[in-house]
Amino acid sequence: MSIFLSLLLLFFTVPVSPSHTPDRYTKSLPSFHHKPREYFELAPPLPSDFLVPSCSHQVLRHSFANTINSPPFSIRYSPPSDCASSWSHVVLEFRAECRGEQYDRIAGLWLGGAELLRTSTAEPTKCGIFWKVRKDITRYSSLLLRYDLHLTMMLENIVNRVYTGVYHVTVNFLYYNYNTVKLPSMIPDPKLYRVNTWQGLEGLYEPPADFIIPISDRGDKGFWFRIDGESDFHSKSIRIPQNTYRAVLELYVSFHGNDEFWYSNPPNSYIKTNNLTTERGNGAYREIYVTIDGKFIGSEAPFPVFFTGGVNPLFWEPVVSIGAFNLPSHDFDLTPCLGMLVNKKAHRIGFGVSEGISYWLVNANLHIWVDHKSREVQAKPVVYNTPKLKIKRKEDFKLLDGSFKVQAERKAVFVGWVKSSLGNFTTVFSQNYKLKNSLSFQNNGAYKLVKQTIKATREVKVLNDLGAVISRVGVRRRYPFVVITSTLPGPKKKKNTYLLVTNVSHVLNEKYMKGKFVSVVYNVQDSEGWMLVKDHSVLSGAATTRQSFSYRDDFRCYSRTVKASDGKLISDNTSPACFSSV
Ligand SMILES: *[C@@H]1O[C@H](CO)[C@@H](O)[C@H](O)[C@H]1NC(C)=O
Ligand SMILES: *[C@@H]1O[C@H](CO)[C@@H](O)[C@H](O)[C@H]1NC(C)=O
Ligand SMILES: *[C@@H]1O[C@H](CO)[C@@H](O)[C@H](O)[C@H]1NC(C)=O
Repeated sequence: MSIFLSLLLLFFTVPVSPSHTPDRYTKSLPSFHHKPREYFELAPPLPSDFLVPSCSHQVLRHSFANTINSPPFSIRYSPPSDCASSWSHVVLEFRAECRGEQYDRIAGLWLGGAELLRTSTAEPTKCGIFWKVRKDITRYSSLLLRYDLHLTMMLENIVNRVYTGVYHVTVNFLYYNYNTVKLPSMIPDPKLYRVNTWQGLEGLYEPPADFIIPISDRGDKGFWFRIDGESDFHSKSIRIPQNTYRAVLELYVSFHGNDEFWYSNPPNSYIKTNNLTTERGNGAYREIYVTIDGKFIGSEAPFPVFFTGGVNPLFWEPVVSIGAFNLPSHDFDLTPCLGMLVNKKAHRIGFGVSEGISYWLVNANLHIWVDHKSREVQAKPVVYNTPKLKIKRKEDFKLLDGSFKVQAERKAVFVGWVKSSLGNFTTVFSQNYKLKNSLSFQNNGAYKLVKQTIKATREVKVLNDLGAVISRVGVRRRYPFVVITSTLPGPKKKKNTYLLVTNVSHVLNEKYMKGKFVSVVYNVQDSEGWMLVKDHSVLSGAATTRQSFSYRDDFRCYSRTVKASDGKLISDNTSPACFSSV
């Protein structure tokens, strides 16, 4: 921070509680543009972007106005009759447009209660904005073939005299046949061309599951469970077929309200000592976990997605933050636990958020593969050790200034065998993560620095009955980020305003492995700027965001670098060149 800023702070008191930053805001700025503009998330192209679909189908069209406290929008789905089942891949194309003033909103899209997409909206301008999201949804093929399901979308919006933005949404499903399509020579084979924002353990979903069981809520407010705190545990009772030989749980999660910026929440001791009124506390460690019949079977420290009103909304136009339009889902291989599940009994799959406060939106899809040649399998868990959470905390503060550190780590391994007509295979699922968070306050709390790194690895190994490894899928991730906010008083003439000077640096680094195939994604976003704020409205400001995305695997590279300043795209370069990372 400059000496000038520090001096200013000595002479003025800042009209906001320091632990209120970062926060969410709306942009009440005049628009410099005369026609609607396109927003986007920097994401790699899907192979299908180069191809003509066999058929496309508009599956949903709806305007989300004052939808708060209303049931979600639901419409009957049926697969396309003109290309029947002659498709091998399906892409969901989500389009939205909005004009006026509005906050960012969270949205979910479900087919038969199974989630297909978790997305958040961009904040509109007076002239209007629009965007699109494309996601490969081939892994949901078993649902996409059915005629008896509803497609449901929840987007809880508030429209009144102040917040005028209505979100107009169209969803198309595009069906492709990669097996018969004739490719122009310069287009890489889509079967090899694997580029995704989130790689996760995607090899686990190939081929797509035979059944998908939603582990979700009733659906009258959307199919997600709303988790309001650490003790607010949700579960659903399910029964799975006796001939299930493989099961993978795909968890969708997003954080909101007092936990929207959980990684920047100070401990309650800080809030209490300083008599602060903020409800954003409970420290800066969170872990979302999954249980079967109350037994821990996996957990995740989630990637910190910034929504478009977060920190400084001017950062996220027209390029939104990493993951804002396509939030990550998390994969848990439950095959080692099948011994607990294939016994004709009902079992409870549940979710909770350790040290969480209100509120988290969580649900999952259980992908199931069955043995078509037998009516039941034999299965038994071999290794199940309740993995201990190692957590260390340090705090050192005097009134509003000081620092807080938390370091959390968990290592878990699950091993189990399943004997079906395919053979007797042992699955080893290992997962571990380490979260390091440091929070510091200076200048009477007006300067706040948040630094966090999440490092995680997961691996699924399958062995045959001779002990030989027959398949291996793994992912290694690093998510470092830094958020700096300085709160300063606004100009004297503008009452009750304050100035926020902010820097954000955010990285998504993933290395995915399937057998000998390796791919690496390196996605880095750096933003800096200031804004003048009254309540939660941005009155003026300036911001710059630079982002570069690179992908490389054994066959190819892809990279794209963009720079946006004050809402304008200054540069945008795409190249097939490789630059190293990891
Ligand atoms: C914010 O980022 C800019 C540009 O990278 C840098 O010059 C400045 O020192 C940063 N501010 C803080 C408080 O770190
Ligand atoms: C907080 O409130 C208590 C009780 O009113 C008071 O004794 C204490 O000095 C206050 N602390 C601060 C930092 O203002
Ligand atoms: C399957 O393989 C495991 C590990 O080799 C072995 O312990 C188990 O007894 C086998 N199960 C059956 C039913 O043969």
